[in-house]
Amino acid sequence: QELVEEPKVPPLIDAAKLVGPDFGLLKRNIASLLGSGHPLLNTVSNYYFSAEGKNIRPLLVLLISQATSKAAKSSHDPGRYYDTIDIPVSSTTLSATKCTSRIANELYMPRSTKEGCEVLPTQRRLAEITEMIHTASLLHDDVIDVSESRRNLPSANANFGNKMAILGGDFLLARASIALARLRHPEVIELMASSLANLVEGEFMQIKDFIKNKDSASEKGAIFQYYLKKSYMKTGSLIAKSCKSAALLGGCTKDVCDIAHEFAYHLGLAFQLVDDMLDFTATSDQFGKPAGADLKLGLATAPVLFAWEEYPELGALIERKFKMPGDVEKARMLVYESNGLAQTKSLAEDHCQKAIDIISVLPDSEAKTALIQLTQKVVSRKR
Ligand code: FPP
Ligand code: MG
Ligand code: MG
Repeated sequence: QELVEEPKVPPLIDAAKLVGPDFGLLKRNIASLLGSGHPLLNTVSNYYFSAEGKNIRPLLVLLISQATSKAAKSSHDPGRYYDTIDIPVSSTTLSATKCTSRIANELYMPRSTKEGCEVLPTQRRLAEITEMIHTASLLHDDVIDVSESRRNLPSANANFGNKMAILGGDFLLARASIALARLRHPEVIELMASSLANLVEGEFMQIKDFIKNKDSASEKGAIFQYYLKKSYMKTGSLIAKSCKSAALLGGCTKDVCDIAHEFAYHLGLAFQLVDDMLDFTATSDQFGKPAGADLKLGLATAPVLFAWEEYPELGALIERKFKMPGDVEKARMLVYESNGLAQTKSLAEDHCQKAIDIISVLPDSEAKTALIQLTQKVVSRKR
């Protein structure tokens, strides 16, 4: 009898457990970066951290840090970062901040996993900075989108008003910038600052679409390219540049930094494509934020742009940003009747496969396997 060899499937890695001790510090350390002299500013800037977010960005930064820790290095300086918590705050909270700094410094040492993969304190701080920048952008985004809920809570703008939500976001950004400067790594500061510029440009591109040299023969292609570029700007860039920054902080060679960057670029794009798909398929309860929002905001995302291939009448609706009565309902129905959702899913799967191919060249580790498994789950996520 012929023996058929079973393909070797690695056991499922619990990614959250793998980064557990570092992850456990995330919220507390972010809170310690956010102390101000005004109680409402503290409440607003901490507000979205009080609910369970996906924490996908810090998870990626910590896993990439582990997965690249045994890859080729051009420099290695794990001990140079001790200045962690003493962010200058107003006099009213300075003493409270000092109290936590001793404990924090003890915790802010490199940590090794049982396989010997290392996470540096600077990389842990980068994970926190990345989540702070992301959360700042959500505070502003919910004002722009006039969104009523996030993470199954009333949105910050609904709860505290637009002015407080904007200032809360600005404050998060400011404190994230101080923490970033304190990493004392000019290339990382430049990368992360440029991802901030990308976030704003992506949001701008979305609100005011503007396609250079648009001619009707290639109009659909140009619009799809514009959509992909916008998606990179508003979502992919922060994910890609924070992962590259993690590798830079780990002292990795240029090739390894580029692997981290390219992997996260494709993962980030897949992530946004799936978000745009879930806007059509998830319920608001599952999503924790209003589903079906994009058409109402006038946005033609991948499912609509693909559906337009099959239903040319969608062109006029896209052009007028679904403004006429019945436009939103008609576009939604045509998307469901078309292959738009399946094509969006398939494009997201292509990007996930590219991400997996890229990350696979790193040395084997549980973190690498966790990154691959996490990528495989992006398309089937429900929230
Ligand atoms: C969510 O998109 C929003 C973003 C990914 C980025 C928003 C960026 C800005 C508002 C620019 C300002 C940036 C900073 C750092 C202050 P979405 O509305 O498609 O997703 P949602 O369904 O989660 O609201
Ligand atoms: Mg939004
Ligand atoms: Mg938005």
